[in-house]
Amino acid sequence: MSTHRVYLDHSATTPADPRVVEAMIPYLTERFGNASSVHSFGQEARGAVDRARREVAALIGAKANEIVFLSGGTEANNLAIRGLCEAVEPQGRHIITSSIEHSSVRGICEALEKRGWEITRLPVYEDGIVRVEDVRSALRADTVLVSVMLANNEIGTIQPIQEIGALVRQARAPGRKQPWLHTDAVQAAGRVTINVELLGCDFLSLSAHKLYAPKGTGALYIRRGVRVLSQNVGGHQERERRAGTEGVPGIVAFGVAARIAREELAQRNEHTTALRENFEAAVAERLSDVVFNGRTDCRLSHISNISFSFIEGQSLLISLDLEGIAVSTGSACSSGTLEPSPVIRALGRNDELARGAIRFSFGKDNTTAEVNYVIDVLSRITQKLRTLSPLNKIRVPRSEFVKSEF
Ligand SMILES: Cc1ncc(COP(=O)(O)O)c(C=O)c1O
Repeated sequence: MSTHRVYLDHSATTPADPRVVEAMIPYLTERFGNASSVHSFGQEARGAVDRARREVAALIGAKANEIVFLSGGTEANNLAIRGLCEAVEPQGRHIITSSIEHSSVRGICEALEKRGWEITRLPVYEDGIVRVEDVRSALRADTVLVSVMLANNEIGTIQPIQEIGALVRQARAPGRKQPWLHTDAVQAAGRVTINVELLGCDFLSLSAHKLYAPKGTGALYIRRGVRVLSQNVGGHQERERRAGTEGVPGIVAFGVAARIAREELAQRNEHTTALRENFEAAVAERLSDVVFNGRTDCRLSHISNISFSFIEGQSLLISLDLEGIAVSTGSACSSGTLEPSPVIRALGRNDELARGAIRFSFGKDNTTAEVNYVIDVLSRITQKLRTLSPLNKIRVPRSEFVKSEF
């Protein structure tokens, strides 16, 4: 086992920032009150939750009372999509979404489909971007919701939500509120500037643990006046939209992380862009038979997704892990077979390239020395795996594998 420990999986989760941990600790110890209690302990906790609500709202240009705290991005997506669909069910049964959504959105749409909802899943083409024209063609009189993510978690591509938002508003018949627009901003938050007014969305999902705060806290922005059916009942918290005692320490941490993310957004992007550019340039120069996935000029600054031909992504992931390097594949192991990533498949890549895809996601504390180490290890390991690989029987000329034009 290697003595190195290089973490390049910041899209999966991030370590808590020490400033965030420091701010939350008092709410685990002396300020432990329940935010619903009337006494001073409760009021202290309530004050902290309100402050955090203002910070999270400020990160996305919302008003504090439009933020609902909950357990994470998955729950936020559930409350937005199911909560809206259940609240307005008789008014329509059609949802438009994309073919590269996070598994939580995919799963919710599948569940609604079983209940009779019609789902239109828009393509993304080779660049990994939804076309506004496709949204326009898919809109119908009974469309209740358009749900398209702000940025993808596997390839980082940023979607044209502002244009989709304008289209959705135009599609509203006079006097009608539908269709509504939801965007999953779990990966985008803290990495691109977000303003819900400019985007024109009605719902926006966030998760604290992608922003250097602990796991188990998230938020859903719900535009003022938009109704959802709470998915948790039995309590009055979060203005009847999410029953259950608020996780005050996690919420405090989220608030501080949101403030720091807003203040340090430019600096973090500059850092991860530089690391990623050096990394991709070195990969293109030193490794053969690689394909970069997703449009590179319209991408979050910290994600690089690369397909390594003739190699199973899972083997590469394990070999890198043995060298102390943490990355991820989009593949999911179901019933003992490795399913290729639906996101990479949606780009039109064949099974082999989809199975050979690896996501490298950089963070604010990664260093150039770490990236250099990863490049050295990658060139050694890919050569070794290719000599052993049964996939390596028919070689395709190198020219077909240079950086795609996106
Ligand atoms: C785009 C996207 N949406 C939703 C989620 C789910 O968030 P959480 O882990 O907080 O449930 C993730 C997490 O990977 C994500 O990347």
